[in-house]
Amino acid sequence: MLGIAAVVAAALAATAVAQVPVPARPDGYRYMPLPNRSAPLQLHGYFDLTCPDCKDTWGPLKAALAEFNSAQIGFTMHTFSLANHRYGFTAASGAHAAENAHKDPFAWMEAMFANQDKFWDEPTDNLTGTQVFELFGQVAEDAPGLRIPKDEFVAALKSRPVNLATRTTWKLGCANAVSSTPTFFANGARFAADDTWTKAQWVQFFNQVLSQ
Ligand SMILES: *[C@@H]1O[C@H](CO)[C@@H](O)[C@H](O)[C@H]1NC(C)=O
Ligand SMILES: *[C@@H]1O[C@H](CO)[C@@H](O)[C@H](O)[C@H]1NC(C)=O
Repeated sequence: MLGIAAVVAAALAATAVAQVPVPARPDGYRYMPLPNRSAPLQLHGYFDLTCPDCKDTWGPLKAALAEFNSAQIGFTMHTFSLANHRYGFTAASGAHAAENAHKDPFAWMEAMFANQDKFWDEPTDNLTGTQVFELFGQVAEDAPGLRIPKDEFVAALKSRPVNLATRTTWKLGCANAVSSTPTFFANGARFAADDTWTKAQWVQFFNQVLSQ
């Protein structure tokens, strides 16, 4: 009994200092072609959806992932908004809003990558906050695979549950010492992939890990 009490006390103490709320389930969005959490190579990527390097990385990575099957690789995307990206947090909130609407967060990611330049500093300098949210809503309404009515999406972006979920995701990224995007972990180990990696480099890396 004493042992259990000690464990419980330790757990409570840990909760008090951890500061990252424990999510109801593992964080991140599973990539539907490769959603397998039992696959031997678990790839996790942290993306700021308004970051040009993330956009440039996704094409070759996606092409490389298409060469593998779900018994080999599982891929999970996490959002992480960098402090220097004015609307990075709102873009990240969109992934949570898409999931809440039972739509694929990767469809939101693709739509954001296609439209991210509308949300950089200069193009939004003369827009009101309301106008920028309207723009986000328009992207969601027009996006293939989403087609979420603009007003509904804007309301979701501004909702407290979506805001809190996005904050928790960000805190988890911080807890994993993510400070730039994209950042990748393969089976928990951080490795130095970026937008300079070609499809062939990704494929080579995956093969190397899988053949160990
Ligand atoms: C998930 O991966 C494991 C390990 O490779 C494999 O045994 C299982 O069949 C995979 N499941 C799917 C649906 O691919
Ligand atoms: C924003 O407004 C300022 C002042 O009118 C103008 O100088 C600037 O060119 C505008 N920027 C954009 C991106 O339209």
